[in-house]
Amino acid sequence: MNIGVLGTGMVGQTLSGKLASEGHEVVIGTRDVDRAIARTEPPRPGMQSFAAWHEENPEVRVGTFAEAAAHGEILVNATSGTGSLEALRAAGAQNLGDKILIDITNPLDFSRGAPPSLSVSNTDSLGEQIQRAFPEARVVKTLNTISAPVMVDPTGVGGGDHHIFVSGDDADAKAEVTRLLGEWFGWRARSVIDLGDITTARGAEMYVALWIRLMMGRGSPMFNIKIVW
Ligand SMILES: NC(=O)c1ccc[n+]([C@@H]2O[C@H](COP(=O)([O-])OP(=O)(O)OC[C@H]3O[C@@H](n4cnc5c(N)ncnc54)[C@H](OP(=O)(O)O)[C@@H]3O)[C@@H](O)[C@H]2O)c1
Repeated sequence: MNIGVLGTGMVGQTLSGKLASEGHEVVIGTRDVDRAIARTEPPRPGMQSFAAWHEENPEVRVGTFAEAAAHGEILVNATSGTGSLEALRAAGAQNLGDKILIDITNPLDFSRGAPPSLSVSNTDSLGEQIQRAFPEARVVKTLNTISAPVMVDPTGVGGGDHHIFVSGDDADAKAEVTRLLGEWFGWRARSVIDLGDITTARGAEMYVALWIRLMMGRGSPMFNIKIVW
């Protein structure tokens, strides 16, 4: 499958590498291809630089946001919360079309340092802002409640017995994303809870405030929540 992954950070790298290793044709999108490939500084301590990652994953093509979006039959938005709308505008509405846009972003605002606050919350969400800005695209908010390594290997914590969510206005798109999460990364269908329309992304995004405190207290992002009905 042709997949466009927008975002060169930890999420973009982790998902692109995994998808390419499974034989998918992946283009990872950035603002500036030359600058991304030349980046030898790790984005965060303990992380690989983009240059080192790209050397290990040469099968993933690096393109502009627009090239990645044009390439993908299905798109993944893994751009920073505060830069997401700008990144998607650069990708271009014509390239997004009515494609499924798997939106993993969180509206984290680090302008006052850590822990971050949310740049949008309560009565709106980044998922909704994206859906409003690109009404044709079929936005499915998911995977934003877990760390990147858990996204691509749910069995890495608790044997895979835990939950993630999907939010979106298009029922078929949510069903397809749920299927793909199983096919690509091994998520069991029963682990994926359909919260409802795109307004339910508010809860999934605001949960991240708790996720961050759990991560800080635990000293590790390798955990998830399990919903017991
Ligand atoms: N890290 C995780 O494990 C994790 C888990 C759950 C959800 N998330 C969410 O997933 C998203 C990606 O996280 P991340 O840690 O992988 O990377 P990130 O550092 O949050 O985002 C990196 C990407 O955002 C782009 N970007 C930054 N500012 C921009 C701007 N003003 N305009 C256009 N593009 C801009 C960068 O473009 P360039 O390539 O040009 O630099 C880069 O591709 C975030 O929304 C984050 O909250 C992350």
